[in-house]
Formats: sequence, C-alpha cells, structure tokens
Amino acid sequence: MDPIVWDWIGAGLRWLHVIAGIAWIGSSFYFVHLDSSLKPREGLPPGAYGEAWQVHGGGFYHMVKYLVTPPNMPDELTWFKWEAYATWISGFALLVFVYYFGAELYLIDKAVMDLSPWAAIGISVGSLVLGWAVYDLLCRSPIGRSEAWLGLVGFGFIVAVTWGFTEFFSARGAFMQAGALMGTIMAANVLMIIIPNQRKVVKVLLAGGTADPRLGRIGKQRSMHNNYITLPVVFVMIANHYPLAYGAAQSWLILAFLIVMGTAIRHFFNTMHKGLPAPWWTWWIAGGCALIIVALSRGTPADPTTTTGFLPQPAVSAQAVTLAQASEIVSTRCSMCHAREPVWDGIITPPKGVLLDTPEHVAAHAEEIYVISVWTHAMPPSNITEMTIEERRRLARWIADGQAARLAQQ
Ligand code: HEC
Repeated sequence: MDPIVWDWIGAGLRWLHVIAGIAWIGSSFYFVHLDSSLKPREGLPPGAYGEAWQVHGGGFYHMVKYLVTPPNMPDELTWFKWEAYATWISGFALLVFVYYFGAELYLIDKAVMDLSPWAAIGISVGSLVLGWAVYDLLCRSPIGRSEAWLGLVGFGFIVAVTWGFTEFFSARGAFMQAGALMGTIMAANVLMIIIPNQRKVVKVLLAGGTADPRLGRIGKQRSMHNNYITLPVVFVMIANHYPLAYGAAQSWLILAFLIVMGTAIRHFFNTMHKGLPAPWWTWWIAGGCALIIVALSRGTPADPTTTTGFLPQPAVSAQAVTLAQASEIVSTRCSMCHAREPVWDGIITPPKGVLLDTPEHVAAHAEEIYVISVWTHAMPPSNITEMTIEERRRLARWIADGQAARLAQQ
C-alpha cells in the first residue's frame, strides 16, 4: 500500500481510539461517581433506591435510580456499551496496524526470542484470549467471593503474565501486550458479563418480576475492576513514548508499581465520591510508588555489567569518543530511518521528526539518544540494525564527557 496513505490510516486509528476511550472512560467514571453519590431520601417515587442532584450546562439534573421497574417506564432506554466496544475494536485494530504489521520492528526482538511474525502474532492473540479466560475463572472461583483476595491474585496474575511477555516479545511489545490484555479484560467484562446481566435484569423487571440480585452484584464487581484498572491501562497506552517505562530491565516490576499507584489514586476519588472522609493516605502510596518507579528505572540500566558509584550506571567505554566518532556510530545504526529521506522500507519521513543525519543533529539529540539507546535499548527498534553493546558504551562515553564539559563551563 502507498506508505503515505498507510501512515494516515495509523493517525486515523489512533484518533478514533483516543476518542472512543475518552467516551468510555468518561461515561464509566461518571456512572461510578453517580452510583456512589445516590442518597436514599424520603418521598422518592415507589421503587426508587436513591437520588442525586447535579448541575451542569446551565440546568439541574435530578437523577433517580430504580432497582425495580419504574411506574412510568418509557420505551426508550439508553444503553452504554458502544463506547467500550469501539474502544476495544479501534485498539485491537491499532495493535494489528502497529505491532502485527510491524512485528519485526515492534513486537519481536531476536535477542529475546527468535520468533517469526506469525508465531509472535499467534502468541499475542492467544494470550489475550487465555488471559481473559483465566481472569474470568478467577472471578467465578471461590477466590472471587473476597474482593481483597481477588484483587491480590488478579494483580499477581497480571504482573506474572507481563513478566512472561518480556520473555517472548521486545520490551516495547511486551509492555503494550500487557496493556492490551488489561484492556481486553475490561471490554470483555462489558460484552460478556455486564451487558448480558443487565439485559437479564431488565427483561425480568419489565415482566414485573424481581431480578436475581446476584446478577447486579456480579456486574458491579466487574465494573469496579474496570474502574480501578483504568488509570494503569491508560498509562501503558501512552508508555510507548517512554522507553524508561517499557525499556527498563524490570519493566514488569515498573508496571506492578504503576498498577498500585493507579488503583490508589482511583480509590481516593471513589471514596470522595461516596461522600466519605477523603483517604489522604492513598497519596502516600501513589507518591511512594512514583519514587520507587523512578529509582527502579535509574537503577536498571540495559547493560548492568558494571557499577560506578552508588547507582549502577550503563557501562562507559574507556576511550574518549569525539562527536565525529559518535556521529559515525549513529549514522550506521540510526540514520537509515532518521534522515530527511529515510532509506528504510515503509518509513517515509523521519520518525517523530527526529533527524540524526549530521553531527549537528546528533549533538542536538544527545540527551534523547542517551535515554533511548544507552540507558535503555529502545532504539534501534528491536535492535534491527544490530547496534552492539560496545557502540552503546562509546555513545555513553561521548555523552558523559559532553555533560562533564557543560558542567565545567557553568
Ligand atoms: C528501523 C528504523 C529505525 C532505526 C534504525 C532507528 N529508529 Fe528511532 N525511531 C523509529 C521509529 C519508527 C520511531 C517512532 C516510534 C514510535 O512510533 O513511537 C522512532 C523514534 C525515535 C525517537 C523519538 C522517540 C519519541 O517517542 O519521541 C528517537 C529519539 C529515536 N528514534 C532515536 C533513534 C536512535 C538514537 C537510533 C539509533 C541508535 C534510532 N532511533 C534508530 C525508527 C528507527
């Protein structure tokens, strides 16, 4: 396909995915908030469970929740499901577009496992299906009766699976795969549990019966899972711009702390929305996790063979490296893609506008090169141009000397 059209398809898919995600997360956060703030009051219509008053857009809303069929039930009911389905469909399309069509660049790292694109795609799709099945079984098992145990076991499961992904895929592919699994669990919760249960309840209520309260309870449980994992999932979705997150040697551990951090923040807001005293302690957890994440990514260089000083630093070559030499390395390993006219098949403009074709450009991007190719091995993608450890060490030396020179000038 024409590479320019192809590129725009990618932009369109991303746009759609972000918009659908905003609609889904927005409506689901809204309903969790509404549900928590409902108050039972005197004088509500028969069958009403609670009410809430809200103000928005220049008017007042009087929200009333019925757990039985309301006396004057209109024919028209708004269901909230396409937000979730559209988010998953566009997200999966994006996964196919970026990670399956670009498997050799983004999903596979031959140094991790020498997979063929089809094998990698098979493992990716298979793990989404299997991951959902295991999660669903956990929820239905006796563990599912205790929120605390389910939370703990579910958390352990996601972290373990993420570690597993790092044994199969490239660093970036593994991180995104973990996000795709969590997103798939969320969407499948809506498709397989929440909406079917809601349908059954509505059907019984419309027939004048009383619905099995278990159906609602299960739906609520899944919807709270979705609510709590939203923040970590959104981070993983933007993390492909942050090699320090996915490119660290222990990216699965970073993800574990991100999950704790995201759920703690969510818990703060959920508790506030119930009108309960604000649980400020959650911010201590979130802040602590943030510090640990930064410390982990400082302490986990991609090449942990040497230590200098207190924190392990990436190994630096012993010999001084000039800009011309550094630029030579970059031009053999990077500038086939990062040039005004890239010569890499399928890449038609310098990716992210990053030009690394002249010594001046290389010098201008020194800090980025450090994060992306020395501290982590995020570039070249999947080390496709076979940059050696020695070359990374030499870049490290060149950057370290440059920093020292700059410090001396100040
Ligand atoms: C095979 C082509 C290819 C090679 C070789 C390559 N890159 Fe990249 N680079 C890309 C692509 C594609 C992106 C955009 C990634 C994305 O979509 O997130 C990128 C993004 C970047 C970014 C911007 C990251 C961001 O999100 O802002 C930097 C910096 C970078 N590369 C540096 C390098 C360095 C340094 C090298 C050599 C060591 C290198 N690249 C080698 C294809 C390449």
